[in-house]
Amino acid sequence: MRQIHICEVGPRDGLQNAQHLMPTEAKQAWIASMAAAGIEEIEVGSFVPPKLIPAMADTAEIVTFALTIPKLKVVALVPNVKGFERALACGAHKVTFPVSASRAHSLANVRMTPEQMVEEVRRCVELRAQLGAKNGGGNNGPQIEAGVATAFGCTLQGVVPEDDVVRLAVMLAETGADCIALADTVGYANPAQIKRIFSRVRKEIGDKLEAAHLHNTRGLGLANALAAYEVGVRHFDSSMGGLGGCPFAPGASGNVITEDLVFMFESMGVPTGVDFDKLMEARKLLVAGIPQEPIYGHTPMAGLPKGFRAAA
Ligand code: COA
Ligand code: ZN
Repeated sequence: MRQIHICEVGPRDGLQNAQHLMPTEAKQAWIASMAAAGIEEIEVGSFVPPKLIPAMADTAEIVTFALTIPKLKVVALVPNVKGFERALACGAHKVTFPVSASRAHSLANVRMTPEQMVEEVRRCVELRAQLGAKNGGGNNGPQIEAGVATAFGCTLQGVVPEDDVVRLAVMLAETGADCIALADTVGYANPAQIKRIFSRVRKEIGDKLEAAHLHNTRGLGLANALAAYEVGVRHFDSSMGGLGGCPFAPGASGNVITEDLVFMFESMGVPTGVDFDKLMEARKLLVAGIPQEPIYGHTPMAGLPKGFRAAA
């Protein structure tokens, strides 16, 4: 039984910030191979205007394909009601909204204030409820996650007050969103801060606080993941090859690296449900799909230690 739930965000966070485009068929093969390695949840793209982020133009096609992979939870980022409607039309299992605690980043990223984004999330929760009522009362729309972006600092605004983060997480939980994530969009966080803010938010919203979305910009991605684990976090976003970063946050770079995250937890005896060797096969498809893009990963480059045994 896996104790760590990894959501692979490379096809979204990774490819949105890549210098090169990955062809649709290559994305599909890569996603399928990551699912075959035991990744249970993949953020496969985003429903944003294609003109804004051309790498995400094929998201509908990618979602439709990913839905054919057995047992895979298919996630898409959506920035507004229009994006939510596109995700609904495709049948994505889960959507995630980027809601910045930094007002400056919120305006740069989605051209809305944090408060306007909260209302956008609320409208989507209501839309889902109306749809459920029409379909006989079941709550059969996608799971709705709201991710508090720039929760640990912002390259545009600088310091993001912790009280702002806590207040925003509470407001988002009150919209009826199913789960809340905290995101270190620009890699400013340190382990002490991670423990403090996750603990504060958990005190307010309990188990609605789910994922840690961490970037490795200053090399603290794994240290921050471990700190989050130690205060009870079991859901982690990560990106194969360490691709990633928000194009509307200056200085943002890659996510915590999936391969290294899997190695860390497995070697600690904490099962992730992911097979490392099969993950390396998937990494080959990432390289094949976007060969000009530099990719990272300590464990993939060094190899597993002699005598390594996976947790499960
Ligand atoms: N998908 C596709 N098209 C969309 C859309 C969506 N989710 N939302 C809006 N549009 C279209 C509108 O229909 C309109 O089209 P038109 O010019 O043909 O009439 C156009 O885009 C502008 O719409 P508007 O509502 O004014 O959007 P905007 O220009 O103010 O941009 C967002 C707002 C939220 C759509 C945009 O800032 C965005 O997508 N941001 C997300 C960026 C991102 O992905 N960041 C990285 C992840 S953190
Ligand atoms: Zn990110």
